Amino acid sequence: MKTLIRHIHSLVGVQDPKQPLRGQALAQLPSITDAFLLLEDDVIVRFGEMKDLDLTASEADQVIEATDRFILPAWCDSHTHLVFAVTREEEFVDKIKGATYAEIAANGGGILNSARKLQACSEDELFERAMNRLHAAILLGTGAIEIKSGYGLSVEAELKMLRVIKRIKEQAPIPVRSSFLGAHAIPTLYKDDREGYLRLLIEEMLPVIGSEKLADYVDVFCEQGFFSPDETSRILVAAARYGLRPKIHANQLSVSGGVEVGVQHQAISVDHLECMDDAAIDCLSASDTIGTLLPGCSLFLRAPYAPARALVEKGAAIALASDYNPGSSPSYNMNLVLSLACTQMRLLPEESVNAATINGAFAMELADQVGSVAVGKKANLIMTKPMSSLAYLPYSFGENVVERVMINGKFFS
Ligand code: NIG
Ligand code: FE
Repeated sequence: MKTLIRHIHSLVGVQDPKQPLRGQALAQLPSITDAFLLLEDDVIVRFGEMKDLDLTASEADQVIEATDRFILPAWCDSHTHLVFAVTREEEFVDKIKGATYAEIAANGGGILNSARKLQACSEDELFERAMNRLHAAILLGTGAIEIKSGYGLSVEAELKMLRVIKRIKEQAPIPVRSSFLGAHAIPTLYKDDREGYLRLLIEEMLPVIGSEKLADYVDVFCEQGFFSPDETSRILVAAARYGLRPKIHANQLSVSGGVEVGVQHQAISVDHLECMDDAAIDCLSASDTIGTLLPGCSLFLRAPYAPARALVEKGAAIALASDYNPGSSPSYNMNLVLSLACTQMRLLPEESVNAATINGAFAMELADQVGSVAVGKKANLIMTKPMSSLAYLPYSFGENVVERVMINGKFFS
């Protein structure tokens, strides 16, 4: 089936880089004005300026008029905790009253609270709830997603989460990547036996995950009060034996050493980076590891924003993601993430779009399929409402400028 989208005000992200964009290249967002785009089923086959369109409307099976609208690659949300049992508004209220994220966690709230709730939830319930959230995220423009475990914290519950993610992967209309985050917190049962939990992760969980192919990546919350750089290193070495590359939580609450340990183990990405010193910025900038920034989390926790400008100027590759989770970032709205990246981190609109599309795709090793407009790539696209410039998208924060989302060449509803 041939779908022709025509009279597009601007076709954005027309590129096919083979490496994540970094430095000045991040601000280059190749676009075509007054454009057409031709799809064959779910694949992009041709595009160009309207004046060069050599196909009549009657030769297409479907014609979509995109007058005044922008077409962009759908968001590639490379860091989420989409699978969880229930939301945590009670902690939100505690935080308003003055409790910090770290205090809530130390009192058995936070991740441990979510783990208790998840352990009591069936696989079917978890699946259904996560699929509903995924549906809502796609309607806001998400066209590829990474999902982590980490609210199980026992062999049974971590495997349950990963099996739920596997089902989502099989049934979701968009590409899904799965990360094993058993090292998200030390569970209550092991609070006086860290070594016991590390052994459980390495000796009990990882072999099953490896043999059942339940994850693409390994994640560790490398942070004071959670997992040290040495412990992180041990887990990453063990996971590498099962082919799992790291995508880790680093430098969220402190200068934790997470960036260095991630880079040392060739992490695909180190994520968060709210607390960076010069050494961590230099280490990341000199590496192939992507720095994934999560401004929704800074907003929600009233925490510092990652030093995006310094990272870009030093030549680090950065991506933007939602960190969607019930504790620190209960929003899967990538449009808001872009607004925050521009207003709070001073990324340019073009930089924010590249970071949330093609670099997000690289942070999930999906850049051959999604993240830009290129021949052969999947037609996972955003069609905006009428807008006069690309900058209107992050500028108009809180407004949903996404009019329709196309997934696999069809409008999603
Ligand atoms: O990325 N920081 C660690 N993990 C999540 C939060 C998890 C939670 O609070 O439930 C994050 O912010
Ligand atoms: Fe996270």
